[in-house]
Amino acid sequence: MTMVNAFDPDHAAGLEAGDAALIAHRRKVLGPAYRLFYEEPLHLVRGEGVWLYDNKGRSYLDAYNNVVSVGHCHPKVVEAVTRQLGTLNTHTRYLHEGVVAYADRLLGTMPDALGHVMFTCTGSEANDLALRIARSFTGRQGVIVTGLAYHGLTEAVSEISPSLGDFVPRGPRVRLIPAPNALTVPPLEQGAKFAADLAVAIAAMRADGIEPAALIVDTIFSSDGLYPDPAGFLKPAVDLIRAEGGVFIADEVQSGFARTGDAFWGFQRHGLVPDMVTMGKPMGNGFPVAGVALRPELVEEFGVRARYFNTFGGNPVACAAGMAVLDVIEEDGLQENARTTGAFLKQQLGEITSGRDDIGDIRGAGLFLAVECVEGSAANARLASHLVNYLRRNGVLISATGPGANILKIRPPLVLRRAEAERFLEAVRGALAAH
Ligand SMILES: Cc1ncc(COP(=O)(O)O)c(C=O)c1O
Repeated sequence: MTMVNAFDPDHAAGLEAGDAALIAHRRKVLGPAYRLFYEEPLHLVRGEGVWLYDNKGRSYLDAYNNVVSVGHCHPKVVEAVTRQLGTLNTHTRYLHEGVVAYADRLLGTMPDALGHVMFTCTGSEANDLALRIARSFTGRQGVIVTGLAYHGLTEAVSEISPSLGDFVPRGPRVRLIPAPNALTVPPLEQGAKFAADLAVAIAAMRADGIEPAALIVDTIFSSDGLYPDPAGFLKPAVDLIRAEGGVFIADEVQSGFARTGDAFWGFQRHGLVPDMVTMGKPMGNGFPVAGVALRPELVEEFGVRARYFNTFGGNPVACAAGMAVLDVIEEDGLQENARTTGAFLKQQLGEITSGRDDIGDIRGAGLFLAVECVEGSAANARLASHLVNYLRRNGVLISATGPGANILKIRPPLVLRRAEAERFLEAVRGALAAH
């Protein structure tokens, strides 16, 4: 499967000589599996706040990055990491206040039922661990995911990541259900449809002698094409997987840490308390910190019989980074900023595109927005690619997603304020006019 918005090495003519040489060298040492973004790849050297700078000193408004969600190189995070790195950095088999204080603070953002958190380094590892715990707790193997989900890169989670394409085997214990669809399913039917599709997948799995252990869902459906609405539509499916003896894992790698503006966690928009919550990306603002929060009863037996050790996960530097990120989100009112600046962007994008028959839908929650490019009822990947690359050439970074590669993915750091939002909109106006 080709990646959306990937650089095509067959179209490298015209690139600046230094960048062309670096691309060739990169390919020589890293091999063929890596991809670069954009028709003209970016060669970045520095970042600050919502801005990135290339090797020629050119600035780019970053409207894509949810890793550095409190802004590139945020001084508070840099200071906290640097201080701890110069003091002590060890694994979690020694006593240290850092991991306990951070776990306490993080669990304080969640419903009381989620009483433990276990730390990892990446979202993939968090989902891998959640699957092991779900399978050990239920004594079952089956997992249900959405049609174009991405949950990570280990062998176990690539099996539940159909967005990697058919080359990556899914195996009989994994079943797919269609993601929501904003264009074809009326909002009020979204919840019932999603639960009905889940029932079909469970029945099909059982027909093959496999019992369902878990439903795992990215609560904003990022790789499926971004489906946040109507808030609450996930509940019937979650009730169903539990009634059938499985657990619900909310993958919050994309939607967590205030991204949606309405709530700190994406699952809270749906009025849910998951059995497990996996998280990562924005958690350390670029420092690798991730984890699984869960109901204590799920890990009781696993904890005794399998134990848990992660060399880097939850070390003092990781916890210092995580704590600094929580401080910044709170002190700088970033959830509220995501809500208001995101609402402004959504409303303005609606105005800019109104009357255009090649834009089928504008949707989103907080600072995670999608613009669906269409041609009649078909996906318009050409328009999406034009917009992504025009914006890149004009100093604004976004990307595209979805099965038809036609859905613009707009996901700036949470520190994007009104002035930068205006700048973004001006660039979008130019890109649309140039089509
Ligand atoms: C929803 C979701 N889950 C899990 C992952 C995997 O996280 P990581 O790349 O940190 O392993 C990603 C990464 O893009 C993701 O988007």
